[in-house]
Formats: sequence, C-alpha cells, structure tokens
Amino acid sequence: MDRIAIVGGQRLEGEIPISGAKNSAIKLMAASLLTDQPLRLTNMPRLADTRFLGRLLRRLGAEVQEIDDGPDGPETILHAPEIVSAIAPYDLVRQMRASFNVLGPLVARTGHAKVSLPGGCTIGARPVDLHLKALEALGASIDLHDGYVFAQAPRGLRGARIEFPFVSVGATEHTLLAAVLAEGETVIVNAACEPEIGDLIDCLTRMGAKIEGKDTSTLSIKGVSRLNGTTHAVIPDRIETGTYALAVAMAGGEVRLTRTRSDFIEALLVKMEAAGVEITRANDGLTVKRNGARLKSVDVETEAYPGFATDLQAQFMALMTMADGVSVIRETIFENRFMHAPELARLGADITVRGGEAEVRGTPQLHGAQVMATDLRASVSLVVAALAARGETVVNRVYHLDRGFERLEEKLGACGADIRRLSHDTGEE
Ligand code: EPZ
Repeated sequence: MDRIAIVGGQRLEGEIPISGAKNSAIKLMAASLLTDQPLRLTNMPRLADTRFLGRLLRRLGAEVQEIDDGPDGPETILHAPEIVSAIAPYDLVRQMRASFNVLGPLVARTGHAKVSLPGGCTIGARPVDLHLKALEALGASIDLHDGYVFAQAPRGLRGARIEFPFVSVGATEHTLLAAVLAEGETVIVNAACEPEIGDLIDCLTRMGAKIEGKDTSTLSIKGVSRLNGTTHAVIPDRIETGTYALAVAMAGGEVRLTRTRSDFIEALLVKMEAAGVEITRANDGLTVKRNGARLKSVDVETEAYPGFATDLQAQFMALMTMADGVSVIRETIFENRFMHAPELARLGADITVRGGEAEVRGTPQLHGAQVMATDLRASVSLVVAALAARGETVVNRVYHLDRGFERLEEKLGACGADIRRLSHDTGEE
C-alpha cells in the first residue's frame, strides 16, 4: 500500500487549480441511469471513488468513457441505452457507500432493483433509513434480506410529500434521483441545501426534469415520463478548496486557489480570518496568505450547509493544534468523527475528546511521525499537520487520500511542499 512522506517547514507559494467535486460527480454519474441517452460530465475529478462507481455502472449496463483531454478538461461520457442488470452487489457497494444511490434511479427506470446495504463506516453507523422511507413513500415496496434491499415498483413510482426529520444530503439526493421519473408531484420538506444538491438539480433540469426550490429546504418535483441526455460541468470541490486553504494557513505562505468558488466555504473562511489568516476572495477562487505570526485559537461547530462542513472538521483541527490558546471543536453530523485526534497526537498535538466535542490546546511545534487514518478527510488532516511539523511524517494507508484528492502530492509539491509518494513494493518513490 502506498504511503506519503512529508518533510514539514516549507512555505507554500503559487497556485493550486481545484478539481471537480467528488461528492457531486458520483451522484451525477448515478443520474446517467435515468436516461437512455448519453450524459456528458465535464470538469470530472479522476479519483478512486469515481472509478469504483464507473465499474458498478458498467455492470448495470452503462458505457463509461473517460476522456482526459476534452475541450473542457477531463470528461466522462456515460450512456445506459438499456439496464442489463438491476443488481448492485456487495463487493462494489462496500467499496464506496455512495454506490447505494443507484437504487432510486434503477427502480425509477426499470421498476425493480436489488442493491446491497452499505453498512456502517468508520465515521459512524450511517444508516439509510431515510433513503428507504422516501422510496416507500414514492410507492416502492422495500424488503431487506441477506444484506440486500429488494425494491419493487412494477407500475412505476408516484409523487408524494416527504418530510425528513433531519437534514440528510444523501437522502435528499436519492429522493431527487427517484422522484424525477415518478408520476405526479413530489415535495421534499427539510431538504439539504449543499451545493452538490444544487448541482444535481441543475443537471437533472438540463436532462428535462421539473424541479423547483433549488438552494432552499423545500423542493418540489413534477415527475416526467422520460429524461434526455445532456452536457453538464461538475461544480468545483469545496472540500478540496477548504483543505488547501487550511494547508496554506498551516504551512505559511501565499497561494491562489483557482477554478473554484469561495462562497461555497464562507463558514470556513470566516473562522480562518478570525484565527488570523488573510483571505482575498476573487471571481474564480481565492488567495490565502499567512506570514509568520502564530494563529489564534477559534471554536467551531459542524452544521449542515451553509454552516461549517463536517468534511473540513479534521483539517481545521490540524490547524488549531499549533494555534495560540484552546479551541473547542464540536462535531454534530457524525457520531464518531474524531479518529484523527489520536493520530494528530502522535505528531505532538494536545487534544482531549469528550463525546462529540474535542478540546485542542495549541502547541508551538509539531514533530514528524508515522501516522495513518481510517477515512479520507482524517487522512488529509494528517497531511495538513505534517506540512508544519518538524522533520518527516509518513502517512500510511494512502488509498483513503486517493479516494477524494486528485494529484494531491503534485498540487502541493508545485507550491514548494516537500512531499512524495512511496510505492508499496520498494518503499521508494
Ligand atoms: C454526505 O454523506 C457526504 N458524502 C459526506 O462526505 C458528508 O460528510 C455528509 O454528506 C455531510 O455533509 C457524499 O456525498 C458521498 P448525510 P451522507 O445523509 O449523504 C444520518 C466525504 O468524506 N442519516 O447528510 O451519507 C447520518 O448517519 C463524505 O466525502 C441517517 O440517520 O450524509 C449522519 O449522521 C464523508 N439516516 C447524518 O444523517 C439516513 O437515512 C447526515 O448524513 C441518512 C443519514
């Protein structure tokens, strides 16, 4: 398994282009199952997660063509003229939870599907009860056995009013993916408003769906009998943007983050400014600058969008490990999302976790060590911390990073970071 070695202490200077959003791309890819015409997605990130989903979509009958040097950057053309199998097996869903999102489109298009339950993961139990209740409300009969969801709607799905008890990104997206082909009107109350949902709505609308209420917590969908293909550009990855912003703040220096949107991470930027980081917002991104001075500790609490993103919590904690004072970080979205704290402690961080709250007492200097993490964002928080740690840090289990960060070592290396990938077999680059 590859590892990444980082020697901390280099300031970052230059420019980092941001890739298309992973969490948008994978839902948009699932949308290709809703039509027999090609869906062309541009600004596609090339990640392990998009490859996993491509493999599953091929199994279901889609042709998946990746073009790396398309006129609008990397693109993927997905074309499912026919669904040849409506079964998403355990081995493919296990590799990536979001594969579960093919359930809704498969039922909407074919009237039946058998999809493996995704199971829990390291950040929490992550049930899918809201997804299943929404599909039932749309008229699908749902049976669970042998670890699979069996869904049937032989006469098609029907519009319904669906009120979520709390905000769920995945359940909102899944309901959209099914309701667009249901007969009649669906209303989703307490819908999530994440930019990735807006992106899915824009793409589905281009495909001929009738959806109102984008960027609000109530969505209304008038079902149509068929959707067409289209071309759609994936929005920039706000978590990648925020992660590099935090990396620059940690290492010091000045970097322009391009091809992205600062408004997607406003809740983070406000906290970074409060800590003493200089941020300049621009039309195509932002510039992040920090000179010498030690940052101040700031408290954060994760929330649904537009609040502070849970996917940036670990990286923000890394920044706070060297700030002046005590920072209290509350995680409210997932019940077990502090797995990075003991790994940051291996670098010398002083963190006490109590339930959903972590108290981070800033220390003037971290020191390199061997570390590993159990999920994507936790892994990248160790990279962020390592950029300012004295000596060498080796981050193990790099496959987590490869799931969600495109060419991470190349992008940071181009700005002066001392970062290299060690290959599995030889331990060498
Ligand atoms: C999405 O997960 C993202 N994943 C996550 O990013 C992100 O952290 C999360 O949204 C919150 O922003 C993808 O888009 C692929 P939720 P999702 O449904 O949709 C509970 C990353 O690193 N819940 O909004 O699974 C759930 O357990 C990943 O890229 C239920 O109880 O998140 C959680 O506590 C990690 N029942 C809360 O709701 C359900 O049926 C919010 O989860 C569904 C969710």
